[in-house]
Amino acid sequence: MRVPMIAGNWKMNTTVSEALELVKAMRAGLDEVDNVDKVICPPFISLAAVGELIKGSSIKLGAQNIYFEEMGAYTGEISPLMLAELCEFVIIGHSERRQYFNETGEIVNKKIQAALKVGLKPILCIGERLEENEAGLTAEVVTEQLRSALTGIGYLSGLVIAYEPVWAIGTGKAATGEQSNETIGLIRRNISELYDKEIAQGVRILYGGSVTAANAAEFVRQLEIDGALVGGASLKAAEFLSIVKQTSEIRGH
Ligand code: 13P
Repeated sequence: MRVPMIAGNWKMNTTVSEALELVKAMRAGLDEVDNVDKVICPPFISLAAVGELIKGSSIKLGAQNIYFEEMGAYTGEISPLMLAELCEFVIIGHSERRQYFNETGEIVNKKIQAALKVGLKPILCIGERLEENEAGLTAEVVTEQLRSALTGIGYLSGLVIAYEPVWAIGTGKAATGEQSNETIGLIRRNISELYDKEIAQGVRILYGGSVTAANAAEFVRQLEIDGALVGGASLKAAEFLSIVKQTSEIRGH
C-alpha cells in the first residue's frame, strides 16, 4: 500500500558541476525502477540545475533544509515559497541541524508547518543520541521529538518520517533491521494515537544511518520500514542504484 522510498541526502557535498555529474551517472538506472520513489537531495545551490537535468525522469527532488518565514529580511535563508518552485520534498530536523545549528523542537515544528503550507512534503528526521540509546531512552526520545514536531499540525499530507539514530549516522554502525523495525512501529503507533489508524498506515517511515548496498536489504525487508534515507552511500551512483534496485525487488508492488 505504501510506495517504498529511497532518498539520498547529499549533505554539504558536491559543487554544482559535481552534482550534475553524479545525477548523469545515476539518472538512466534510477529511471528504470518504477515501483520505488527515488528522491535526491543535493545542496540548495544545485537544486535548479539538477531539476532541469531530471525533468521528464521519475527522479524526485528534495532540499535539505528550509526557513519557516515566507520572505523578508533573513539574510542567507531559503524560504518555503522558493523551494516549492523547485522541489517536492524537504528534509527537516536532521540531527546535524539539531546538533550544529541549534534547531529545537519548536523550530522544527515551525518548519514543518511552513513546508506543508506551500505543499512541500517534509521528510521529518528524528532519532536518539548514543547516550540516550544506552540509557534505554530511545522510545521516550523518539516519541517526544515526534510529538513536538507535529504539535498543532492537523494534516500530514505527503509527510515522510525518517528514523535516524544519531549514533548510526556516518559511523558505519547501522542499527539492526529488527531494532529499527521496532522503533518505527512505535513511531507509527504514536501517529495512530495523534491522528488515526488510517493516517498512520499511510505515512511512510524510513530508516537512516549508515545504510549501504551491503545492508539495505536488512532494513527494507522489515514490515514497518518503508525505505531509507541514505547519506554517504547516496554520493556513489552505483551504490545508490543498488540500494534502489534491492528495494524494488524486495518491496516493489
Ligand atoms: P549516512 O548514511 O552517511 O550514515 O547518513 C545518514 C543520514 O544522516 C541521512 O540523512
